[in-house]
Amino acid sequence: MTELTVTGPTRIDVTGDAPYQVLVGRGLLGELPGLLAGAAQAALLYAEPLKAHAEHLAGLLEEAGIRPLPIEVPDAEDGKSIGVAAGCWDALGANNFTRTDAVIGLGGGAVTDLAGFVASAWLRGVRWVPVSTSLLGMVDAAVGGKTGVNTAAGKNLVGAFHPPAGVLCDLAMLDTLPHADLVAGLAEVVKCGFIADPAILDLIEADPAAAQDPASAQVRELVERAIRVKAHVVSNDLRESGLREILNYGHTLAHAIEKAEHYRWRHGHAVSVGLIYASALSVRAGRLAPEIAARHRAVLTSLGLPVSYEADAWPALLAAMRVDKKARGSKLRFVVLDDLGAPSILAGPADELLESAYAEVAG
Ligand code: GLY
Repeated sequence: MTELTVTGPTRIDVTGDAPYQVLVGRGLLGELPGLLAGAAQAALLYAEPLKAHAEHLAGLLEEAGIRPLPIEVPDAEDGKSIGVAAGCWDALGANNFTRTDAVIGLGGGAVTDLAGFVASAWLRGVRWVPVSTSLLGMVDAAVGGKTGVNTAAGKNLVGAFHPPAGVLCDLAMLDTLPHADLVAGLAEVVKCGFIADPAILDLIEADPAAAQDPASAQVRELVERAIRVKAHVVSNDLRESGLREILNYGHTLAHAIEKAEHYRWRHGHAVSVGLIYASALSVRAGRLAPEIAARHRAVLTSLGLPVSYEADAWPALLAAMRVDKKARGSKLRFVVLDDLGAPSILAGPADELLESAYAEVAG
């Protein structure tokens, strides 16, 4: 006898002034129209590689009586520009987009950041829904209401906090995601394990191969756990005036590496090296037991993520960290760990301390 297991989506609540749910599961795109009740039309931003999925979504909207307005945008970071956003606003204007209409971003973090930004400014804010197609997008970009575009001054310096009406994380989308992108997204999941939910680390350590198989129960649990960590943080601090800063664990060095690499490195790869660095800094600042730093290296290595960077790059990386948008005034700030699940802030560390921690990643 064939056993039928029907599992519906997991619904994770994000609370605060504008509450919403993040839906995680397989085959849940049919949930989209329900998030857009009252909309007469919905703009659907997508990049060319996802055209077939966009057509499918457009059909679902039409069946629900919502007129789809597909807008193809350049793929990845090329789409995250003020010029592309302006083109989207022109399209909304040409179609008499009103306050009850909505914007959908179908894609990875770049397309969902763009879609959210387009929605945040049109009529001073209309509803939007990210339909996330990458692991990184699901566990990071799509949750938390940060939207924005890149400008000549830098990445993500122009944007708005604009929480979505709901978030769809359809794990079936991960089946066709390149393996390297899936693994890169896991770096953010590992980060969530160290700052808040060590069960994530236990899951990966028990079976690193399953953690990289998009069809596994482990990937679903990892995605859900990472989203719960982020949902908890942004529910309590949408505008990053306190707690939200812990999500930056590993990111100060990561942003500097991305800049040094002219953004050709995957974000998750830079975060992986950044996590090793942040754990080394935590140890050298006398906050963290060396065994926990060693666990960073072991977990990230088991996933095939990079744990080192060029030895002679330090002066350029330090200079880049000094202008990171998360620095405050002239003082560098690092999220460090005092223990598993216990992040804290290290403000204004001495250059000697920063450089000595870099010895742990210098390859
Ligand atoms: N990606 C970090 C944050 O959303 O705050």
